[in-house]
Amino acid sequence: MSKFIIQGGKKLEGKVKISGSKNAALPIIAATILNKGKTTLYNVPKIQDVSTMFEILKEIGGKVTKKNNKVIIDTSNIHKFKIPETLMRQMRSSVILAGALLGRYKEARFSYPGGCDIGSRPIDLHLKAFEKLGIELEEEYGEISCHAERIVGNEINLDFPSVGATENIILTSVMCEGKTIITNAAKEPEIEDLSKMLNKMGAKIKGAGTDKIEIIGVKKLAETSYNIMPDRIEAGTYLVIGAVSGGNITITNINLEHIKPVVDKLEEANCKLEKGKNFIKIIAPRRLKGVDIKTMPYPGFPTDMQAIFGAMLSTAKGTSIITENIFENRYKYLQELSRMGVKAKIEGRTAIIKGTKKIQGANVIATDLRGGAAMIVEALYAKGITQIDNIHYILRGYENIEDKLKKIGANITLEK
Ligand code: UD1
Repeated sequence: MSKFIIQGGKKLEGKVKISGSKNAALPIIAATILNKGKTTLYNVPKIQDVSTMFEILKEIGGKVTKKNNKVIIDTSNIHKFKIPETLMRQMRSSVILAGALLGRYKEARFSYPGGCDIGSRPIDLHLKAFEKLGIELEEEYGEISCHAERIVGNEINLDFPSVGATENIILTSVMCEGKTIITNAAKEPEIEDLSKMLNKMGAKIKGAGTDKIEIIGVKKLAETSYNIMPDRIEAGTYLVIGAVSGGNITITNINLEHIKPVVDKLEEANCKLEKGKNFIKIIAPRRLKGVDIKTMPYPGFPTDMQAIFGAMLSTAKGTSIITENIFENRYKYLQELSRMGVKAKIEGRTAIIKGTKKIQGANVIATDLRGGAAMIVEALYAKGITQIDNIHYILRGYENIEDKLKKIGANITLEK
């Protein structure tokens, strides 16, 4: 099992280029299935989750070619409609492949998805939406078989603005008969990115990025190329790293609007931020100030930044209160961080964090992707050496994190 060894307490300075967005790349790669032919993608992050997605595509008959900075996906020969269980278990977002397979073949089979252990992650909203589009579902031994004679557009009101369910409905409806309208749709920028890519392919999607999305079914799609948006969570992570490390870090290849909720909170915590067209520089204060955060669907504060902020706030002056409104079990990292001196109390969906300067390196275990990133943040601040085990979680979502951190002066090594 690989691990990171980090010597903390170093002032970090320099530039970090943000990679393509994981959460946009995954549905966009799935979307390539919809058109029989080639799609060229740029800015695809080189991370484990993307490799898993490519594995699944190859397994069902797709071809993936990587050339310099582009990835060409050929879906002409897809001939299997079952998503392999082992790969499905590795990554929850593989469930969006179901929408793409249904959209093109009206057939898909998959088992219940895996992914990070951050609370119960049902797919009932996805399945209810499939049924509304005329798809028949059968469940046997944990495997779900979906089949339709015709996919017919419908009005779907989501009980909760689920990102994955919104994406699955879009993918299933792109070539439906008639029109699908999603109300209470998720408004995350990754949904807008997926829709832009699909519209470039010839789809007719309106309203992505708002809570009402309209999809008029089209008969045919065409080959296209697409540049994936920057990763707003990776951007937020490096800003927080800048905030705890007492130095100044400039991050490039970003969309400022996407990271606004995070930037606003960093300013509230006394950081200075200099904003440019395609970059932002963070200048850390002498001591961060505690702030309260509440996670919400976009444009609220992102749940994926909650653990990373939790680590930062544990070093700040005063008490901070975090309320996690999206996933019910996203505080496991705090228990691990208590080994390093973090003082936190968890009450249901709330965590009360009492900031302290006395953070000491220790041996910790990454609990999930963002919890693992929180441990890196804590380790970079801590006195002494921290060993983080189970870093396969972190590598699922952060491209080249070791090199990017070394470039700004961090003392970090990856041991295999
Ligand atoms: C996506 C992101 C993830 C992010 C999350 C919330 C990807 C690959 N992952 O995950 O990083 O943390 O959005 O911004 O894009 N729910 C149900 N039933 C369903 C579906 C969801 O009850 O059928 C609940 C979930 O349990 C959770 C909430 O809705 O409490 C939000 O989940 P959702 O928006 O679907 O997250 P994901 O798409 O899984």
